[in-house]
Amino acid sequence: MKINFYNGRSALSHGIDILNIRENSYVLMPEIICDVAVKVFINKKINIIYYKLDKYFQPVWNNLNNIKNKNISAILMVHFFGYPQNVNNFKNFCKKNKIFLIEDNCHSLNILNNKTKLGQNGHIGIDSPRKIISNLYSGGRLFVNINTKKTKIKFPRYVPTKIQIIKNKIKKNSPILTNYLKFTKKRPNYESPYFFSDKDNDFSIKKIDFASLNKINNFKINKEINKRFIILSKLKKFAKKNQLEIIFKENKKILPMYFVAIAKNNLHRKTILDWGWKNKIDIVTWPSFYKKNKLSPELLKRWKKYICIPLNQDLSNIDEKRI
Ligand SMILES: Cc1ncc(COP(=O)(O)O)c(C=O)c1O
Repeated sequence: MKINFYNGRSALSHGIDILNIRENSYVLMPEIICDVAVKVFINKKINIIYYKLDKYFQPVWNNLNNIKNKNISAILMVHFFGYPQNVNNFKNFCKKNKIFLIEDNCHSLNILNNKTKLGQNGHIGIDSPRKIISNLYSGGRLFVNINTKKTKIKFPRYVPTKIQIIKNKIKKNSPILTNYLKFTKKRPNYESPYFFSDKDNDFSIKKIDFASLNKINNFKINKEINKRFIILSKLKKFAKKNQLEIIFKENKKILPMYFVAIAKNNLHRKTILDWGWKNKIDIVTWPSFYKKNKLSPELLKRWKKYICIPLNQDLSNIDEKRI
């Protein structure tokens, strides 16, 4: 069963209600996760225990297996940047501990992984097509993979404003101008782990607007996979030229949101971020953490070397660039 929402967090919020995760219980979340996803649980008075990740965004299973708490209801499995996690490991963990698996595929879309689509492995799954398909006004989906009668709840439908419609038209018809205007501003402080935290506080629950739904239904996934694969090959060359360590293995069947790499140190990362902004190339960091989550020095040290390059931009000559 699939329900179309306004964004990923609406889908997650309704999914949590369907699973009947109770106030004061605990949910396991990866230590690297955006404040928005955390807040969905906090708003419902659900507590969070963060589990450790290694530098390749894989769970440290020893750490997970040592977490002792009798009141854990679920674990969030995130396919970071669109690269599939080892789903079976998560499923086994959930079976052993009798907890729910919540699958977060907000960094990809509709991908087949070992015969099952990402998003359909957990008891519930979510994704966020608005992050993958250009110019959507809204888009987040909930996949309910258990039997329940709680899916027929009515929510208001999102309707884009006139200003959004005009902005969208300008973006579509004049992408060069839009890009130019974006980079005339000062570069955001991507070095801060909280640079965007608390800035997006819309947690209303709405259904998707019709124009976006139509675009999702007509999305040519294979074309987009091929396009992103070519960009990734160029970025691989860029990384080698600029001493960046690549995190994820090449995979022709996935639809990632970002290319991710590790810089040599903070200064190297700053140089890359500055270079991107100066050359009108989007190079960012992810995530903006939940502010009350005290990051361990070890995690912060690691996080300060990651750079992310969104794949929904023109990167045709990036393979030739030496910084
Ligand atoms: C891993 C992850 N899950 C969920 C969300 C929430 O998605 P949305 O912004 O569509 O609500 C985000 C984005 O902030 C995310 O990065």
